[in-house]
Amino acid sequence: MQFILNENIIKTDLHPGFLLLDFIRYEQNLKGTKIGCREGDCGACTVLIGELIDGEIKYKSATSCLTPIGNVIGKHVVSIEGINGEILNPIQQAMADEGATQCGFCTPGFVVSLTGFCINKKTHTYDNAISAIDGNICRCTGYKSIERAAQKISTLMLEKEDNHTLEDLIEKKIIPSYFSTIKEQLSNINNPIEKLINPKHKFIGGGTDLYVQKPEKMTDEAAHFSIHHKDLKGILITKDEIIMNGACTVSELIESVEFNAYFPSFAQHSKLVSSTPIRNIATIAGNIINASPIGDFTIFFLALNAQLQLSDGVENRKIALKDFYKGYKQLNKNENEFIEKISIKIPTKNSLFNFEKVSKRTNLDIASVNAAISILLDQNTILDAAVAVGGVGPIPMFLSKTSAYLIGKTINEQLILEANEIAQMEILPISDTRGSSEYKRLLVRQLIIAHFNKLFPTLSVEKLICAL
Ligand SMILES: Cc1cc2nc3c(=O)[nH]c(=O)nc-3n(C[C@H](O)[C@H](O)[C@H](O)COP(=O)(O)OP(=O)(O)OC[C@H]3O[C@@H](n4cnc5c(N)ncnc54)[C@H](O)[C@@H]3O)c2cc1C
Ligand code: FES
Ligand code: FES
Repeated sequence: MQFILNENIIKTDLHPGFLLLDFIRYEQNLKGTKIGCREGDCGACTVLIGELIDGEIKYKSATSCLTPIGNVIGKHVVSIEGINGEILNPIQQAMADEGATQCGFCTPGFVVSLTGFCINKKTHTYDNAISAIDGNICRCTGYKSIERAAQKISTLMLEKEDNHTLEDLIEKKIIPSYFSTIKEQLSNINNPIEKLINPKHKFIGGGTDLYVQKPEKMTDEAAHFSIHHKDLKGILITKDEIIMNGACTVSELIESVEFNAYFPSFAQHSKLVSSTPIRNIATIAGNIINASPIGDFTIFFLALNAQLQLSDGVENRKIALKDFYKGYKQLNKNENEFIEKISIKIPTKNSLFNFEKVSKRTNLDIASVNAAISILLDQNTILDAAVAVGGVGPIPMFLSKTSAYLIGKTINEQLILEANEIAQMEILPISDTRGSSEYKRLLVRQLIIAHFNKLFPTLSVEKLICAL
């Protein structure tokens, strides 16, 4: 196995499931990358992962505590040591000048994430700088000083906004000069895993569920790294369908111009799901297979009537996502089958879609209840409808009766009240740490109203709320 860590080519025979964080700290003795939570929450372990795509290196931030080294084969991993120079770089200087570091434990993670912001081709606005650090937590500073540092870095980048090349960043001393040699080095690394596909092995996508749930087991399990398999990568848009391959990540969808043309609110909805470094590595297939009753993308795609293409490496079959869940964490899938593709129909100009999520914190929290709806309209009449809700049953729920009830009806306040009554009969919430069953029932009511309020702003929400 080969990859580049900072300036050095790494060759290792360690198990590919070995954690990148442990490799960096204990095999390479680079202690700048910190261990906070080991669950993807704090960002102290953030690194950049650079991948050669169409002849250019694309860097993304990632949590090394959830990334197996198998996922970085043939890539460039940058830890804080790979950013350090003789003197503080402009990001480190801004953090120091603004008092954005106190105990310093979180600081390497923030600096790495902000470096990712600078390398990234997105516009270097202050808002984008803040988004880049949405996966980093600081216990000391109260964030205002970090926000000021982010503002300074954004201003520096905006000075020459049309020039984003690595050379420009090297000239600005944001990254060291060795970055200019990485592209050539990466093109010489061969990736043997790419050719392997053994459906009997455990599939690993981003590892953001697997390494939270069973990190110890992952270092001796026979694994298949889906992100290395060419046929499982990327998104395909045909005349009728949007097809996400089995290793398509959340960030790939967010960044897909075509996908966003059809779902302009997707990027905004996705901001409510995990954080930038998690979205950069987490796959949609991983979310669906995890079968969490509150999986956000599962609910999203349930309401879009997604179809799965499962394969055992030889044969494949199609199944509707709504028929995929048989019971709590029980899937309509054979042991050897993996998700090859997830497809949805291309929406027409009369299609409407909305997603809502309620959690204790707005960001970086799992839902108490989430909900999505898609509607096909003809004037004021519903031709087709699909409603999905999470957190109110043992599986991510497709509300088939509520969906069927809406079809053929005219949109008005009374219809929403009636649909709500049917939804209440379909759901089975239990009381747990995310709320009592009564609270979750209330949330389902409110979220269904919220859908219609967003999609049909002329409806009288006050009238609806008073009627409840
Ligand atoms: C800090 C943090 C915050 C999070 N926040 C949210 C949130 O807000 N909402 C939410 O829904 N989730 C959240 N998650 C959960 C997680 O990020 C998602 O479920 C993610 O989509 C999982 O994808 P993955 O590729 O990382 O899965 P992995 O961990 O790689 O795999 C998960 C499961 O899917 C299987 N698998 C992966 N790919 C395939 C395939 N192609 N075919 C068959 N099986 C496959 C694996 O074997 C495993 O059983 C969060 C996780 C973390 C760590
Ligand atoms: S150690 Fe906290 S996110 Fe990795
Ligand atoms: S400076 Fe102490 S955790 Fe951020």
